[in-house]
Amino acid sequence: MNKKMTISSIKKSKGLAPLVMITAYDALFASLFEESCDMILVGDSLNMSFAGKKDTLSATMDQMIYHTNAVCNGAKNSFIVCDMPFGTYTNKEDALHNSIKVFQQTNADCVKIEGGGDKADIVEHLTSNGIAVCGHIGLLPQSVRSEGGYKVKGKTSAECLSLIADARAIEDAGAFCMVIEGVIAEVAQEVAASVDIPVIGIGAGNKVDGQVLVFSDMLGLFEAFTPKFVKKYMDGASLVKEAVKSYAGEVKVRDFPATEHTY
Ligand code: KIV
Repeated sequence: MNKKMTISSIKKSKGLAPLVMITAYDALFASLFEESCDMILVGDSLNMSFAGKKDTLSATMDQMIYHTNAVCNGAKNSFIVCDMPFGTYTNKEDALHNSIKVFQQTNADCVKIEGGGDKADIVEHLTSNGIAVCGHIGLLPQSVRSEGGYKVKGKTSAECLSLIADARAIEDAGAFCMVIEGVIAEVAQEVAASVDIPVIGIGAGNKVDGQVLVFSDMLGLFEAFTPKFVKKYMDGASLVKEAVKSYAGEVKVRDFPATEHTY
């Protein structure tokens, strides 16, 4: 069994082998992922791939706590990140109140919040009150409605400078690592080089300190759309459909259950 990562071993991994993070929303999948992954993210992306909503914005604190508990139960030896949902960390008091709920009601190792310099005071408030924080900069899915879509960042030198400033602000505020999403690869590389904590990419090229993918994307289970940065490591949707079709076919002709499945 792999040794569970800690805040300290995650920080020390900078400059060594890239960190592997994957999302999970339940105990079953989490238990399958823990052997190969360093960190499991209970992402608010569950609102899309689990709950079938069009974006992440309506995920609630109670849902995140429910799914984080399931993941913690399935992957007791993994470092677990709980995403703070939209609207739960708009000010320091709410952020601390809701993060304390996560720490008291689950075994999550840290929370993740979206935002750069604008959220530095909140990151500082959480970390100085005993809550470990993973930042999330670049393309912020919780801002999809206010930005009018998912927009890749780092296309201008001003955006590049602003991303570097965001990363430094989050680091200075006490975050131990951060996710960088939807950023031009060269810019993400510069951002990663400008801080001492690991920067874990998604749609940000391979020159950062780790990678994260949404499990239902990389297993080919989520069919609604596939972003450019997703590699499907299997065609999960076809495999599942084929298996269920076989089951249904066998039930219809009474081939299932066979003698070996019968008491
Ligand atoms: O919610 C999520 O799954 C995420 C990843 C896209 C990093 O935040």
